[in-house]
Amino acid sequence: MSQPALLPTIVRTPLLIAAALLAARALHGVLATARGQALAGQCRSRRIITERQQAQQQSHSQLRELSAALQTIREEERSHISRELHDDLGQLLATLRMDLSLLRQEAPGSLSADALLHNMDQLLLTAIASLRRIAGNLRPRALDEGGLYFALHGLRHDFVQRHAIVCELLAVEEELVLDDSHSTAIFRIVQEALTNIARHAQAGHVRLRLRREDGALLITIEDDGRGIADEDMDKAASFGLIGMRERVWAVHGDIVIGSDGSRGTRIDIRMPLPARAGPPQ
Ligand SMILES: Nc1ncnc2c1ncn2[C@@H]1O[C@H](COP(=O)(O)OP(=O)(O)O)[C@@H](O)[C@H]1O
Ligand SMILES: [Mg+2]
Repeated sequence: MSQPALLPTIVRTPLLIAAALLAARALHGVLATARGQALAGQCRSRRIITERQQAQQQSHSQLRELSAALQTIREEERSHISRELHDDLGQLLATLRMDLSLLRQEAPGSLSADALLHNMDQLLLTAIASLRRIAGNLRPRALDEGGLYFALHGLRHDFVQRHAIVCELLAVEEELVLDDSHSTAIFRIVQEALTNIARHAQAGHVRLRLRREDGALLITIEDDGRGIADEDMDKAASFGLIGMRERVWAVHGDIVIGSDGSRGTRIDIRMPLPARAGPPQ
């Protein structure tokens, strides 16, 4: 085949022009595609950055709301404890003091002195029981004395006694030997769930199930009451469910709260257990 340089100029020129035109068109196409891709890329990355910024702003505002909610929970707990101390123990001690000053005016051994002493003894017994209850609410003694399994049985027993609602606890003691942070979280979650059932559910039957699976603890709390509506879970002044979620997330777990279609409310929790959270399964 002849070399292009050897072709007559008259033939070469249109060929060169055609080649140049084709090359120019191709180059234009490549450039346009590249420019288009660059522009699209810019738009895409701008969009990704905007979405990322929006997600960051959203998570910042959620964190702010959460920390505000936690502050409120803490304050509510403090005012609740202070009310209990004031109304309960404060009243009892004030009455005891009055009885003591009345006793001073009575002749020792008289009938009215005996009656006052008996009354004071009853007041002291009530004060001791109140103190135990308030201290127990601050830190469940059962957790320290017998561990989580024992403490949950105590919760179940009190719940059945106070509300006459059937409550089953399905758990194996050895699987509930956990570290303090996990035990306390689970105890408080079950406590709040039972309080909610007593207050809101109108249930006749409750089932608590706790079992280990694949290095995690699976907890299910079910009732057969009126069920929980989506809007119930977003009530501004309700911190029970928020606190429950917060406790689960604090130990890197997942929680799903909802009504399972038929009747009642069901809470499912999956709590991963680090090796140090408890003995081998
Ligand atoms: N087991 C349940 N059955 C029916 N409704 C429930 C149940 N648990 C919670 N709720 C609803 O969810 C709301 C939010 O609960 P919570 O955050 O614990 O707040 P609180 O108990 O102070 O109202 C409750 O007010 C109630 O309407
Ligand atoms: Mg509640």
